Amino acid sequence: MKTFNEKEFSPDEEIEDLYGPPIEPEPIPAESELINDARNTQMVYGPPSWFSGGMMPATPAPVTDINQRDDYARLRALLETIRSYTDFVPKVGLVLGSGLGDFADDCVDIKVAVDYKDLPQFPLSTVEGHKGRFVFGYIGDVPVVVMQGRVHFYEGYPMRDVVLPTRLMKMMGAEALFLTNASGGINTDFTAGDFMLIKDHISCFVPNPLIGRNVDELGTRFPDMSEVYDGQLRGIIKAAADDLGIELKEGVYVQLTGPSFETPAEIRMLRTLGADAVGMSTSIEAVAGHHCGMRVCAVSCVANLACGLTDKPLTHAEVQESADKAAPRFKALVTESIIRIAKAL
Ligand code: HPA
Repeated sequence: MKTFNEKEFSPDEEIEDLYGPPIEPEPIPAESELINDARNTQMVYGPPSWFSGGMMPATPAPVTDINQRDDYARLRALLETIRSYTDFVPKVGLVLGSGLGDFADDCVDIKVAVDYKDLPQFPLSTVEGHKGRFVFGYIGDVPVVVMQGRVHFYEGYPMRDVVLPTRLMKMMGAEALFLTNASGGINTDFTAGDFMLIKDHISCFVPNPLIGRNVDELGTRFPDMSEVYDGQLRGIIKAAADDLGIELKEGVYVQLTGPSFETPAEIRMLRTLGADAVGMSTSIEAVAGHHCGMRVCAVSCVANLACGLTDKPLTHAEVQESADKAAPRFKALVTESIIRIAKAL
């Protein structure tokens, strides 16, 4: 047997012996193919295959596909489908968080509803208790579209898909975006059941939803974020809360990915950074809404004190229960606020 030194050394052969023949790189597809791919693939990085009934591709598409795909074409196709159900043009888009799930049934004069599952390639919520549909109707005489159920980053969707519904509401005609959620209170002045008007957020612990090719038709590549939560709308919500006798705190919301709740050390860190409440949604929707020119506002229901502030372990059931308890006041505040906001648009 020849030793390494005796053999005529051919690095390519050695490598081929070890790893097999070289793999030719795939040619980069033309842009039109990428667009088609984005349209035809059920979910590029979707939820796990058990959820989508085995529709997931066996191998996820390379990251470049999702970053380069034409989201605007996808949004236009979705809008077309919506328009095949209804020509309703909303003035305000409302996203319902935990505890507000039945807001649409109780507080909206519903004209038509479209299930997310009837929209091609629409991200579907995997969280129990989240209905998935757009409700079109009136709050007072304000035409609204209500998202009854949202998807979260922790469900496995790419950020661009998580904010797709936000962008779609803008394309439907919504001028303002009203976001709601349940959160954990970090500020030690907060108690469970408080409402917090979001005045600013910390979103840099989660991927930015605008990463990837910019949708120029919606907004600029480098959007300013000095006032994501519209000052005038915040004033209107504060006045509405005042008139209704509902106490409204104000503070900074921080979004983490979840789905695990935070550790006590993380909560201490977040407090040091200036956050008042923590949750797993909302700030990315606010970024996407602000990017495409909607006037954004958001109210959080502080469903629990954040980890480490009590000695009880946190559960989703507790969050849900607490948000449900606050729901009647939350519904009154959202209803009155939207009626007043519409007058300012
Ligand atoms: N942490 C994160 N998200 C939450 C919490 C929390 O304590 N409560 C409700 N959503």
